[in-house]
Formats: sequence, C-alpha cells, structure tokens
Amino acid sequence: MTADSQIDIQYLKAIGRICAETLRRMMDATRAGITTRELDGIGRAFLEAEGARSAPQVTYNYPGATCISVSPVIAHGIPNEHVLQQGELIHIDVSAELDGYFADTGASMVVSKRDRTFEKLLEATKGTLNKALRAAKAGNPLSGIGQTVHKEARKRGYNVIHDLSGHGIGRRLHEEPKDILNYYNPNESFILNEGLVLAIEPFLTTGMGRTTQMKDGWSLRTADNAIAAQFEHTIIVTKNEPIVLTL
Ligand code: CO
Ligand code: CO
Repeated sequence: MTADSQIDIQYLKAIGRICAETLRRMMDATRAGITTRELDGIGRAFLEAEGARSAPQVTYNYPGATCISVSPVIAHGIPNEHVLQQGELIHIDVSAELDGYFADTGASMVVSKRDRTFEKLLEATKGTLNKALRAAKAGNPLSGIGQTVHKEARKRGYNVIHDLSGHGIGRRLHEEPKDILNYYNPNESFILNEGLVLAIEPFLTTGMGRTTQMKDGWSLRTADNAIAAQFEHTIIVTKNEPIVLTL
C-alpha cells in the first residue's frame, strides 16, 4: 500500500511496534530446553493481549502464530515439540494485523551460545538489511534494493537465497510490489514512490542459495543444508531515510 495520510502512518506504526515487541519477547525467551511451540505461545499471548492477529494465520491458515525455523530450515518453520538445543541457529518471523494494517519482521539468532561462524553470518545479514533499507528511497528503482542486497552479501563472502524475497505490505500481508528479490532483476522497472510500504528481508547463506519445501507443506530448508539467516523490517519509503516501523 501507499501510506498517504497521518492516520495510515499512525496505524502502521502501531502494528509495527507490536510485531517488533513480539519478536523481542520471543528472542529474549529463546534458550536451550524450550520447545518452539512454547516460544510461539509467548508470541501468540502478546499478540492477543495487544488485540492483534497473526498474519500468516488469518491470511494462509498457517498452523502457528509465528514462524520458527531451526537451521537448515530457514522460513515458515511450524512451531512444534522440537526442544531447542544449545548452539542451534534459529529464525523467528512475526507478522500481524491490527485494525486492517499489517507489519512483518524477522530475526535470526544462535541458541544459548557464542559461535563465531554463526555470528559472522548474523552480522553480515543485519548489515546487508541496513544497506538495503538505505536503497529504499522514493524515486529509486525497486531493483536497486536487490542489487544492493546481492552486492553487500557477496562483499561479505555470502550468497543470497534466490527463491525468497521481500514484498509490498500494509493492507495485506503480501501485496504489490510482489517480489523484492534479493538480487538484481534487470527486467524490474518499478520505481519506489513516497509512502510505499515494504517488507525488506535479505536471506544470506554459506551455500548455493536455493530452498526445498519439506513434507509438512510449509517449512523451507536450504537445498544443500547450508546455514542461512534472515533479518526483516517493514518500512515506509520517503525521499530520505525510510521510516522503519518494526524497530
Ligand atoms: Co516475515
Ligand atoms: Co516478509
């Protein structure tokens, strides 16, 4: 959507804050010994307390309030009885709706451990997201976001996952522009306009950058079992720095 009133911006900020706070609470509760279902329950309870609804649940009838992916699963992992182990790399994605407005955020982390290999990947992915946010400026081409993501990922020694991308958001979880690729698409001619609401989500990996769907019909794992990470923010495009709704 294009946010073209103070009211739009206010409502978007409200749901952005709720998603960010849900993610923060879940990350704070992440430790060895907790199941991903328990972690999802913490997210669900906070969303409910705020009067918000899980976006994947209302949009896709997703079997969980949030997505919790344990490596090599990198997206759409279903909360279940898996007990988190020290040193596992996990990804949490929170998207939700309030009063007809949607926001989407995500982060990766290591469970209860310092791990240099993982931390390097997390830092690189976060840094790549920050670079990408700065490319999202009114008047710039949409393709510049993917170009920036890919360039930054390569510079830091990683690949991007080619079949996962960001998206327009706001009135629905996924709307136009449909695919904000994590690499350059020369055929993409869309120009970013002021007020455009986008979810930007680079996925970086040590592997080839392809995913395969698992038998549960949701979970996407890296095809080569390589580790991967994602960080995601929902933003409103402006002429300068974007308004980050999910900080
Ligand atoms: Co997300
Ligand atoms: Co998203």
